[in-house]
Amino acid sequence: AASCNLIEPDGGTLVDLVAREGPAREALRREAARCPQIKLSRIDLEWVHVLSEGWASPLCGFMREPEFLQTLHFNCLRLGDGSVVNMSVPIVLAIDDAQKRAIGDRRRIALVDARDKPVAILSDIEIYKHNKEERIARTWGTTAPGLPYVEEAITNAGNWLVGGELEVIERIKHNDGLDKYRLSPAELREEFSRRNADAIFAFQLRNPIHNGHALLMTDTRRRLLDMGYKNPILLLHPLGGYTKADDVPLHWRMKQHEKVLEDGVLNPETTVVAIFPSPMHYAGPTEVQWHAKSRINAGANFYIVGRDPAGMSHPIEKRDLYDADHGKKVLSMAPGLEKLNILPFKVAAYDKTQKKMAFFDPSRHQDFLFISGTKMRTLAKNRENPPDGFMCPGGWDVLVEYYDSVGAN
Ligand code: ADX
Repeated sequence: AASCNLIEPDGGTLVDLVAREGPAREALRREAARCPQIKLSRIDLEWVHVLSEGWASPLCGFMREPEFLQTLHFNCLRLGDGSVVNMSVPIVLAIDDAQKRAIGDRRRIALVDARDKPVAILSDIEIYKHNKEERIARTWGTTAPGLPYVEEAITNAGNWLVGGELEVIERIKHNDGLDKYRLSPAELREEFSRRNADAIFAFQLRNPIHNGHALLMTDTRRRLLDMGYKNPILLLHPLGGYTKADDVPLHWRMKQHEKVLEDGVLNPETTVVAIFPSPMHYAGPTEVQWHAKSRINAGANFYIVGRDPAGMSHPIEKRDLYDADHGKKVLSMAPGLEKLNILPFKVAAYDKTQKKMAFFDPSRHQDFLFISGTKMRTLAKNRENPPDGFMCPGGWDVLVEYYDSVGAN
C-alpha cells in the first residue's frame, strides 16, 4: 500500500509479461507446441527474464525496428504521449536465414530453451536486418575485436532481428540455489514498502566488494541521513547475467557479498541484497544508463556511480576502453533519467597513511595505492594478502578459495 511513495516506473506502470497460472498459461503452452520455434541462447533467455519482469518497462518485448533505431540513435524511447524514457542498450533477438524462412509469414512464434522447452510466445512480430557492425559501433563506440558480449552474442548471431510482444509462460528460474535472490522489480518494491523506506539507493556491481565500494555505499547513507531521510535502504544489486570469463562467477560473488554483510562492512538491517538478471555488455557510459534506468523500475530513486562504471580494458590497446569519468558525467545528463538522483563519486584507492580505502587525493598521490582487478586476482591466486583494510578478511578468504578452485596459475 505504501508503494505509492516509491518512484514511478518508466511509462507509469510496471510491465509484467508472465502469464497467470491456470487456463491462460496452459493455452500459451499448447499454442507454443504448434508455432514455429526459435531456440534461445543463454543470453537470449536472460533478456526474456529481464523483459518478463519489467526491468525494461515500458518495453513489452524484443525490440522491433523503431525501438531498435531509437535506442541506437537516441539512447531513448519516445512514448505515445511525447514523453521520453531512457533505453540505451538494444534488447533484440537475432535469427538466421533458415529460421527466417521457417517463420515465413506467421505472426506468432514460440521461443524455446536449450532443451526445447517452450518459454514464451512472441507475437505481432517484425523481422528486420541485423546490421551487426552498426549495432556494435553505436553501442560500444568501437568495433575493435575482442569485445566479450560481441564475441559471445553478436559475431556468430543471425543476420536478422525479430521483435514483437512477449508473453512468458512461467516465471524464469535458474534452479542454481540463488533464485531466492532474484527478486523482480515488483517484489523489490514490496520489500521497500514493507521496510518503510523513504529513500532507496541502488548500487550496481559485477565485482567482489572491496572497502572502496563499501565507502561509496556508507557515504551515500550518511549523505541521505544529512538530507533528512529517516530510513534510507541500500539495494545491493550484483549483476547476475552473462559476464566475461575473467570476472568472478555469480555464486562466488554472492558468497563474498554474504561475508561482507556478516563481517559488518555493510549493515544487513538497512540493505536488500538481490540479483539483477541482465547480462553485461561492458559498454561503459552507454550501458551505465541501462543499469540506472532498470533500477528506477525496481523502485530506486538514488543511484551510485563511481569510477569507470561498466568499463573494461581496451581489448587490444593498453588503456581503459572508456574515459573513467565519462560514465558519471553521461549519467548525470542522460535524457529520460531526470527523475533519478545520480550520486557521482570520485575514485577510491588505498591510503597507505591511514591503512584504509579513501577517496583519492591527487595532492598527495604518492600516499595512494590503486589495486586493480588484475592485481587483486594475482594476489588471491598466489594466496597473498592485500594490504590491511582493503577488503574484510572473510570476503578475501572467499576469493582465495575461488581462485584455488579454478587452479592458481
Ligand atoms: S560495474 O561494471 O558494475 O560498474 P564494478 O563492480 O567494478 O563494475 O563497479 C561497481 C560500482 O562501483 C560502479 O559504480 C563503479 O563506478 C564503482 N567503482 C568501482 N571501483 C571503484 C573505485 N575504486 N572508486 C570509485 N568507484 C568505484
